[in-house]
Amino acid sequence: MKLHLRIATCLAAWAAASVYAQSPAERFVDSLMAQMSWEEKIGQLNLPSVGFDVTGPMLSTGVEEKMKQGLVGGVFNTFTPVAVRKLQDFAIEHHPHHIPLLFGYDVIHGHRTILPIPLGQAASWNLHLIELGANMAAREAAADGLNWTFSPMVDIARDPRWGRVSEGAGEDPWLGSRVAEAMVKGYQMPQMQTQYSLGYPQSVMACVKHFALYGAAEAGRDYNTVDMSPYRMENDYFPPYKAAVQAGVGTAMTSFNDVNGMPATCNSFLLKDVLRKEWGFDGMVVTDYTAINELMFHGMGDGAEVAKKALLAGAEMDMVGELYLTHGDSLRKVHPEVGEAIESACRNILLAKYRLGLFEDPYRAWKEADAEVIMSAEHKELAKASAMESTVLLKNENRVLPLNSAQKIAFIGPQVKRRRDMIGNWSGAGDWTQSRSLWDAVAGWDNVSYALGCNLVQDAAMMDQLNPHGALLSLDEKSPEALIKEAVKVAKNADVVVLALGEPYGMSGEAASRSSLSLPEHQQALLEAIAATGKPLVLVLMNGRPLCLSEVEGSCSAILEAWFPGTMGGDAIAALLSGEQSPSGHLTMTFPRNEGQIPIYYNHRNTGRPFDAQQKYTSKYLDVPNTPLYAFGHGLSYADYSLSNLVCERVGSELHVSYDLTRSYEGYGGPASQVTQLYMHDISSNMTRPVLELKGFDKRDLMPGQTQTIHLVVPRNEWGYFNGDRHWVMEPGEFEVSVGFSSDQRPLQTTVVLD
Ligand code: BGC
Repeated sequence: MKLHLRIATCLAAWAAASVYAQSPAERFVDSLMAQMSWEEKIGQLNLPSVGFDVTGPMLSTGVEEKMKQGLVGGVFNTFTPVAVRKLQDFAIEHHPHHIPLLFGYDVIHGHRTILPIPLGQAASWNLHLIELGANMAAREAAADGLNWTFSPMVDIARDPRWGRVSEGAGEDPWLGSRVAEAMVKGYQMPQMQTQYSLGYPQSVMACVKHFALYGAAEAGRDYNTVDMSPYRMENDYFPPYKAAVQAGVGTAMTSFNDVNGMPATCNSFLLKDVLRKEWGFDGMVVTDYTAINELMFHGMGDGAEVAKKALLAGAEMDMVGELYLTHGDSLRKVHPEVGEAIESACRNILLAKYRLGLFEDPYRAWKEADAEVIMSAEHKELAKASAMESTVLLKNENRVLPLNSAQKIAFIGPQVKRRRDMIGNWSGAGDWTQSRSLWDAVAGWDNVSYALGCNLVQDAAMMDQLNPHGALLSLDEKSPEALIKEAVKVAKNADVVVLALGEPYGMSGEAASRSSLSLPEHQQALLEAIAATGKPLVLVLMNGRPLCLSEVEGSCSAILEAWFPGTMGGDAIAALLSGEQSPSGHLTMTFPRNEGQIPIYYNHRNTGRPFDAQQKYTSKYLDVPNTPLYAFGHGLSYADYSLSNLVCERVGSELHVSYDLTRSYEGYGGPASQVTQLYMHDISSNMTRPVLELKGFDKRDLMPGQTQTIHLVVPRNEWGYFNGDRHWVMEPGEFEVSVGFSSDQRPLQTTVVLD
């Protein structure tokens, strides 16, 4: 029988079977499950990796054989329409009930066309652009046969030692929530939230991760323990996950870490009480890579025991580990509650497939023409816009930027010509050979010269760590001294030096924690040698996390933080350097002065002995100020702005805030957007509250000399909070409202009484 006929016959039989469930989807799934054996139900819970991308110690084996027995629910790490169709056809053909597979992949910041890393995108403070970026990624992924992405990663992170800060939106729960919503919308498209999305084949199902609190790993060491008060959990870490759920995210991924003594992957408080009961999540929960197996290392028992614990806690799909496959059937024979958990998990997985439209068309209306979007001119344009808006101008002394085209410019440093690092660590399907290096973009300018200056990595032990995935770090064999000498010579012949330094891409991301966040020593040596020439020095950074720049920032006239900027990074940086457009990014994560200050974040509490330079017994360090080098929200522009006329007005249940933003006539006259930020502080309350909390922002373009009034609305629930018992409270009283260009520069301030 032809495949589509088989599916149609099954659809008709299933549709007739059940009349009790509420929705067509539930009726469909119930009737399908009524015909499935226990093995087949458990099989739906199995998610093997089929492909080359490995983030853990094992790779799934014997997948085709298992497919024939109905023991595979989905696969990940396989893409391209040809590969997907081959596997999907095989799965449907051989599955006893012809159930199609999910095809997942880590589409983290773009798929083929790579956008800046998520921490960079968040720094754009442009939610529309972030949503468009996720949508672009979804279109490319869907054109490549995928139907599920393991994104957005929304873990709040206050510790830049943790390499995975690159994958999230930074330290702020409010902004992180808005970014989470934008990404879910972009991936899934609004239509998918209520319906299966056959009519919207360019969408993919999103997966909010890592649930929960992965970003709070102790000491910033990956996979490490998390121990956290309910108060902090609710107010500072939960909001972005909850926002993703409220935006209709289809799936959630458990995290590797334990939380208050219970691993997240077998944590029923997180997976059942919070996620399902309190937040109403009705999608499917997948574990992280071999996370059930890792419960054994957490000390939760042997294979059978941890499979039982995870199932009972609500972890539904087993990524790679296959412990459900191994133990599920024998467990459910002894423990009826395990049988119920298997039924419920299978149901949610099948519902996810139904919502994706896979039972109607396992290829989701894929057609050859879809491939035209992949790395299209439009997508590259979007990637360039995203990279431009994500770049943060940290410093610009004497307005050394934008560069003057009459100047002789030396481009020096290991990041000038590198293409691979531009697309960052988690860019699995990205073709780095097509990415544009800084040199690709500027080589055609008049009066430019180049020197390598130093290798990106010099340290042999670090090289070994970075190379397991073929990090493509070809080293120049000349001695460090010789490389610096050449570079100094080039610098001396120039009017200004653009020095491109940073991390190799493998130095941030998963399993890439660092205890020292300075630039590598040999890069610093190059910087010092160039600075000693006395030429104005513009430092362009490409890296995945806040770095500690205290040792070098004094030697730089300007610093441009470009993150790992993606496929079009070179063009974006060049456009900003030349002044074609002003940088407009603002940090969403604090840059510490040194590692000893970590964790350092803007929304800290006041303490009973707040900082006072004159008083010894106040909360401070003996050897470093309390303040960061660059605060949350910091980001300069080539244009000059001022703020005035702050007005706060209570309108019904909302606080309406308005203020005027003026762009000066003077100076830079090119295109520039400016971010303004609205903060609140609860002056007196029943719990200690943060000294500042972001509650709104605006980003807009103004012409030189133009003034516009900005209106922001803060809904009432924004000035409430969860107390120590996890109860939502609204406490009437005085609040400080302030508006500025960053958390440490807020020229407009007033107080309001709110109830
Ligand atoms: C990571 C996840 C990722 C998964 C699948 C894990 O190691 O923690 O973020 O989605 O691998 O590749």
